[in-house]
Amino acid sequence: MLLHGMLHAETGAEAWLRYAPLGETEAAKYSSLPASVVVLGDSLLLHSAQQETIRGARGMLGRTLREATDQVREESIVLGSIAALNTAAPVLKHPPELRGDGFWLTTGNVNGFTCLIIAGATDRGVLYGVFALLSRIARGESAVQLDDLEQPYAPVRWVDDWDNLNGRIERGYAGRSIFFDGGKVRDDLTRAGDYARLLASIGINGCAVNNVNADPKVLADDFLPQLARIADAFRPWGVQMAISVDLSTPKVIGGLDTFDPLDPRVRDWWLKKVEDIYKLIPDFGGIVVKADSEGRSGPSTYGRTPADAANMIARALKPHGGLVFYRAFVYNHHLDWLNPKNDRAKAAYDNFHPLDGQFDDNVIIQIKYGPIDFQVREPVQPLFAGLRNTNEAIELQITQEYTGQQRHLCFLAPMWKEVLDFDLQVENPPRRHGDTEKIGPSGHRIIGSSAQLLTSRSPDHPGSPDRPVLASWGGHPITRSPDALLTPVKDLVAGKVFHRPTGGFVGVANVGLDANWLGHPLAMANLYAFGRLAWNPNLSARAVADEWTQLTFGRDPLVLRTISSMLLSSWHLYESYTGPLGIGTLTDITGSHYGPGVESSERNGWGQWHRADHQGVGMDRTQATGTGYTAQYPEAVARVYENLATTPDDLLLFFHHVPYTYMLRAGKTVIQQIYDSHYEGAQGAQQLVVQWESLKNHIDDERYEAVLARLEYQAGHAIVWRDAVCNWFLRISGIPDAKGRVGHYPNRIEAEAMQLQGYSVIDVAPPETASEGKAVECSATAQNCAAVFHFQEKAGWYDVDVQYFDQNSGASKFRILVDNQVVDEWSAGDALPSAKINGDTSTRREIRGLALRPGDEIRIEGFPDRGAHAALDYMELHPASGYVQATAGNPGSHGHR
Ligand code: GCU
Repeated sequence: MLLHGMLHAETGAEAWLRYAPLGETEAAKYSSLPASVVVLGDSLLLHSAQQETIRGARGMLGRTLREATDQVREESIVLGSIAALNTAAPVLKHPPELRGDGFWLTTGNVNGFTCLIIAGATDRGVLYGVFALLSRIARGESAVQLDDLEQPYAPVRWVDDWDNLNGRIERGYAGRSIFFDGGKVRDDLTRAGDYARLLASIGINGCAVNNVNADPKVLADDFLPQLARIADAFRPWGVQMAISVDLSTPKVIGGLDTFDPLDPRVRDWWLKKVEDIYKLIPDFGGIVVKADSEGRSGPSTYGRTPADAANMIARALKPHGGLVFYRAFVYNHHLDWLNPKNDRAKAAYDNFHPLDGQFDDNVIIQIKYGPIDFQVREPVQPLFAGLRNTNEAIELQITQEYTGQQRHLCFLAPMWKEVLDFDLQVENPPRRHGDTEKIGPSGHRIIGSSAQLLTSRSPDHPGSPDRPVLASWGGHPITRSPDALLTPVKDLVAGKVFHRPTGGFVGVANVGLDANWLGHPLAMANLYAFGRLAWNPNLSARAVADEWTQLTFGRDPLVLRTISSMLLSSWHLYESYTGPLGIGTLTDITGSHYGPGVESSERNGWGQWHRADHQGVGMDRTQATGTGYTAQYPEAVARVYENLATTPDDLLLFFHHVPYTYMLRAGKTVIQQIYDSHYEGAQGAQQLVVQWESLKNHIDDERYEAVLARLEYQAGHAIVWRDAVCNWFLRISGIPDAKGRVGHYPNRIEAEAMQLQGYSVIDVAPPETASEGKAVECSATAQNCAAVFHFQEKAGWYDVDVQYFDQNSGASKFRILVDNQVVDEWSAGDALPSAKINGDTSTRREIRGLALRPGDEIRIEGFPDRGAHAALDYMELHPASGYVQATAGNPGSHGHR
């Protein structure tokens, strides 16, 4: 039995559904909660709703509620659809707005008893209402006298998981697939069920379970029954299963000699296949299509359009209520770099805008938030405004492919909010009725249905309803005439602007078998935030961060304040040391997408160019002199980006090519900003560790240590990023850092300058990812190697950083000796995303508090293992705080910084 308030070890598997025991005073607030939970009707979903209520109350309040069906015989929590409630309590007037997946929490009289009622238009809505009630209790909010109606912003709130049938996950950073293994659906789908419960708790109602780079075998006859088992695991939680398909499947495994979408044989093949699916999975959600993209086959093979392909599948799905998600991520990855007019950013609009109106009503165009590919910052994709007669959904990335791969903290809600609130200023949108009302006709408080008023009043966006300030990048709000209609991205994708039948939000989640789902214990804030914002994009990033922190770590005010502020600062931090001024994430774009690789995006066909040369940097995307991309935006937005003077600093290099000496609005040159932001960012990453350390003993040790290890790693890797990017720009621009930092590392001793025993000096590629471009490696055949030097500075306490490489091809070991005394040793056995000696694997070990005296021999020993070469870059010595004359040798304590 757990004691209230005790900090027991947690793996993170429960995520935000911990239902941790409330303290006695807290629990007392809910003493009037009824002792029984009555469900009206019978369905899998209602059963889940009832059991979840019992589970939550038992966990948080230590009480086991009585369960009953249909009969209200005492004060109860009553769960039921509006239809059932109409029969059980005909006097109760439900709000007319309640529809779709919405729910209503209220207090009312049923059968003569005062009851807490959780009603939904559907059983799924009831389940959502239960989760909302339990979340309130966990966060200490009142659960009496409720009268809340919540209506989701859009019907589509889905996640995609990029799992391969062999069990690996494309861009997954938390272990293997929870669905597949060895070409089959796993026997044990417990985690899939747990996942669906988590998804349901934040209002997500669909999940495509396999990689968008789909294996045709997912549609094989013997695979469908296996898929049906996943759908079975999802069903109790109202999550509809969907799959991604490869368009060439009829040809690859279907026995046809074509996959031409206009060929009747192909059409019939899909018709039959879809029928087979629905026989096994009656609530199958639909089909995701990635075609003519990154080497995937598509309708262009036969000179057909995306509309031809999408509609063919849509017509097969239509009778069953299924949807097609056709991804707008269609572009040519063999673009000619030498042509300054070429621009990958234009691809989605160029491909899909001309087809507007040609897609069937059960097709949704799934559009990444920006025109490139989940970079740390991009402008909003103009296609959102370019489809007036077509359903659309925004695709956001929960898995942090380009934002630190869950090794760096990067809470994405602030970015998503900027995107969702961004007003594309659509010209002549049709007038809307009723959606500026905050209070529904029935007088119930409505959450999440009004775009306009809530947007302009949101705490994230200062302004007033009569003079709205529009969300804009870079803190330079664009004001506009008060009577103009707002057409923010969230309203466009939700179908509110052009009155579309469907649309919404898709998040690429890529959870894995790791106990905590996403690898970094704090990364689950992104999954939570995605669901919450898909449900109600008018929530502020802070509100979401606060909710998540309370649910995940409890309600200690210090914990809440600290974690929430860490989360909220983390995206800007990450941006500032990996891709400032809208240049795009400066990572190795042809490989891991993880460590620094500034030049990897240039001189190839992928089109993620930043065109840095000796004079200047940035892509000229203007109509006047550049690629003309800005013309894809509605005029008012195009004008802002076309003009150098009005383009916000943080998107400057996305839209313009400028000299390094160009003066930013921030009052400094581009080059100095590149240097400064990297130093500030790396410094900020060190601060995250300090912030986290203030929480020791305020949260359980298991999660405390797991987060600390990641943050210490991040702090070290942020320095790798800082030095790589700054040195690269110093070399190309020839302009020194006005503050004298870049290229000067007074406390650093290069490994190649040490006395080497067995180690040999190598050139690192790209050179900026190692100090001075060189490292030392120990050949795999050697037992061990050593790098030795003699300390020459003043005697005192020092913190010592060892920069080494943790290749994923083995687990090298390291040992540090000061005058033959071992002061630290560790194994480099992490699974970083590279086997190479480069910026992906460069890692920092910090040894704090070493007493050093002049003449001391410092010896780093490396023990290679298989393909890992115990490689070293440098050692850095920093006088420690409390720097005094040392008196004795002292084995230090260590971290990884
Ligand atoms: C990115 C990612 C790929 C993915 C693609 C997509 O390019 O790196 O792994 O397949 O996006 O979204 O289709």
